[in-house]
Amino acid sequence: MLSFRPTIGQYGWHDPSAVIFEDGPAVFGVEQERHTRKKHAPETLPIEAIQECLDFCEISLEDVDHLVFPHKPSLQWKIASYIYRWAFSADSIPEKLYWANDRTMDLIISKFFSTVEVERKLRDHFEDPIPPIREYSHHKCHAASAFHPSGFSEALVLTIDARGEYDSTVVWRGDESGLKRIKTFEVPNSLGFFFGAVTEFLGYHANNGEGKVMGLAPYGEHNDRIYEKITGAIETGPDYDVTPLVGGSIDESVGRLEELFEREKRREPSEFTQWEKDLAYTAQEILEEIVVTLTEHHCRKVGTGNVALAGGVALNCKMNKRVMESSLVDEVFMQPVANDAGLALGGGLVGQDPDDVPAMKDVYLGPEFSNDTVEEILETNKLSYREPDDLEATVAGKIADGELIGWFQGRMEMGPRALGNRSILADPRTAESRDRVNKFVKHREEWRPFAPSMTEEGAEEYLVDANSAPFMIKTFDVVPGKADEIEAVIHPADDTTRPQTVRPDQNERYHRLIAEFEEITGVPVVLNTSFNDHAEPIVRTPQEAIKDFFGMGLDTLVINDYILEK
Ligand SMILES: [Fe+2]
Repeated sequence: MLSFRPTIGQYGWHDPSAVIFEDGPAVFGVEQERHTRKKHAPETLPIEAIQECLDFCEISLEDVDHLVFPHKPSLQWKIASYIYRWAFSADSIPEKLYWANDRTMDLIISKFFSTVEVERKLRDHFEDPIPPIREYSHHKCHAASAFHPSGFSEALVLTIDARGEYDSTVVWRGDESGLKRIKTFEVPNSLGFFFGAVTEFLGYHANNGEGKVMGLAPYGEHNDRIYEKITGAIETGPDYDVTPLVGGSIDESVGRLEELFEREKRREPSEFTQWEKDLAYTAQEILEEIVVTLTEHHCRKVGTGNVALAGGVALNCKMNKRVMESSLVDEVFMQPVANDAGLALGGGLVGQDPDDVPAMKDVYLGPEFSNDTVEEILETNKLSYREPDDLEATVAGKIADGELIGWFQGRMEMGPRALGNRSILADPRTAESRDRVNKFVKHREEWRPFAPSMTEEGAEEYLVDANSAPFMIKTFDVVPGKADEIEAVIHPADDTTRPQTVRPDQNERYHRLIAEFEEITGVPVVLNTSFNDHAEPIVRTPQEAIKDFFGMGLDTLVINDYILEK
């Protein structure tokens, strides 16, 4: 079975990806952005991602028993009245007519011909007959991506994002029989729209800058006036309603925030005022309050303390921390590919028995490159390199000496986080090290925090209520007195950290590297940030890694067994 998210026609517009399943498990998966080199690869059929899946299995398209599209466009009809209300809100009669006509065509195509454009484009690339297509709803695919690999036999499942076909947040109950929809929040009552509007108001782009607003939040503080203005306009709690603040388009939503605060949005993000930092704090605070009360309300109703999360809003790891801290919540699983790229993963799980799906222990689903291939690339590029016997100890020594390392190993990660196979590594121990990464490598806002990778056995020493956190999607408080030891990977404003814990069975070489760093320094932690230049997707190939090595201020590049030095 081949599941892919086409972002053309009726199927959404960002984060296309493809995942192939062989007799059950996902065996290969990749985001299309890693091929196009444009972040989120908007409005793209993921042809290269599909081809890579087929190549991995050494099959052609006709060998696939069926295709899954993780989106069901016909469900848009459920919000037809909202769609027309939006079309008729245009300024002039010609515009109203234009949009009403456009939306009518859209709805008809979504109902009767949703697959036509994708099939036509597939035929442009593949000579094979196209396998039968199954469509599953957007939120069901998010829900399956969260519940099926969670390891829970029963759980409350929350899928929270900007929008699916007609729904923006869905509450599910998951058990051995599958997923049952309990409550639906329909578009435009969307927490993704709400946080996206604040993101745009602060000068970032929605669907891209939300993580930065979350990172900015701890620099602000609770501001009564902002809090009262927002909560005076919307309903919070388990039956939240944010529609008074979010409209049909992002511009409309930003306009409502401008009216509410009687000030204009920022044109671009730069030095934020204290008021803007307080806005980030307060928006984050309100998001957390809503999601925690929603979770607690339904934990009581369903009678479980197991919670599984997915959807773009579930990438908000500060919010996830609050969910984890609820006294009604025992265990939480967050799907690491919680954004829409993970729909292809969930799409392939929808039809599977949850009991047959193993608990997810890593996300190394992407391509790898053999030593022979790497050597050939290095030779062709006339690059000098060496192959030390004690690679991990050598690299650990370099990190301890303050070098910035490009670390390229094995199979690429799926999802937005680099987890030790396409990573940039640095010394976690000092603020100067963090500044070096910013100055020479990442070229991003100085106030943004970096995250650590640590051995799972070493985590307890640093994390309050430490538990396994292999995906950098959970935030923890740091054990008092320990923050100074790993200053570069602590959020400077609130002393929290968003770690990746590593076990040998998840990533043997990476675990060994961190253990070697501990041998030298006594600290079982490294700074880990994704291997990409500013605003570029994570590197996929050795060639891209080499290009970034010379285009950025890295000191050393490690590809598989080989080391390149400047
Ligand atoms: Fe989504």
